[in-house]
Amino acid sequence: MLSRIFIFVAIIMKAKKQQPIGIFDSGIGGTSIWKEIHSLLPLEQTIYLSDSKNAPYGQKSKETIIDLSIKNTEFLLRQNCKIIVVACNTATTNAISYLRKNYEVPFIGIEPAIKPASILTKSNKIGILATKGTLNSSLFEQTSSKINQDVKIIEQIGEGLVELIENGKIDSNEMDILLNQYLQPMINQNIDCLVLGCTHYPYLIPKIQQITGNSVKIIDSGEAVAKQTKNILDKENLLRISESDQRNIFYINKDKMILKNILKEYTDIIIDEIDF
Ligand code: DGL
Repeated sequence: MLSRIFIFVAIIMKAKKQQPIGIFDSGIGGTSIWKEIHSLLPLEQTIYLSDSKNAPYGQKSKETIIDLSIKNTEFLLRQNCKIIVVACNTATTNAISYLRKNYEVPFIGIEPAIKPASILTKSNKIGILATKGTLNSSLFEQTSSKINQDVKIIEQIGEGLVELIENGKIDSNEMDILLNQYLQPMINQNIDCLVLGCTHYPYLIPKIQQITGNSVKIIDSGEAVAKQTKNILDKENLLRISESDQRNIFYINKDKMILKNILKEYTDIIIDEIDF
């Protein structure tokens, strides 16, 4: 009898390992996190949800961000995801504690990497570019209150940047104007580290670096999120082992061309436009 129970549990655990990792963002920005996860965990199946119809989340109320995060989580749970990565700083800082309290699945979140930046800085001045929703959240306030008080954090809301990225306007005049407007005051205040507090912004790194020059180190949390995802899957004994039937699916509730463009180097992924 005991051995039968053991075999039954082993079969269930094996099936669970095969289930996909669910990832969501307000739009296409979380693909910067998907890339890190896919490169660290190539055997895993992933389902990415781009809620582009409702982007940007950054200007919305905490209640609305929680409601949208619930909708995204339930969609991914219906797809049988074994873990959910909230690949959005705004959704993490406003909704992850609600999600963790109300769903059993493990959640991985992303927060601006101000702690590592506060350790790296020599000028004791770090800049952070993030959405209003992230910078105004209590989670961000808690995190920033814990860093070395000698370090000055210069906050800047990246208003308009997510919209331009969602509309395929990374290389546009409007983008250059906004980035100059946001970054110049930080450069004038002698920052030597710039934290990217939004998963859309890694797509702007070449442009940002052109403005800041190489003396400013740009820090984002993508790699750390991928490592944390691996650690939790390992701890829960959920790492996928088989290479067979490995699929990466992207769902978007707007025109899929924008996702296709940003993921053009990946030829074996599935991108679908759906209503959700
Ligand atoms: N990628 C989201 C983040 O990391 C963008 C937020 C938004 O939609 O405004 O915060």
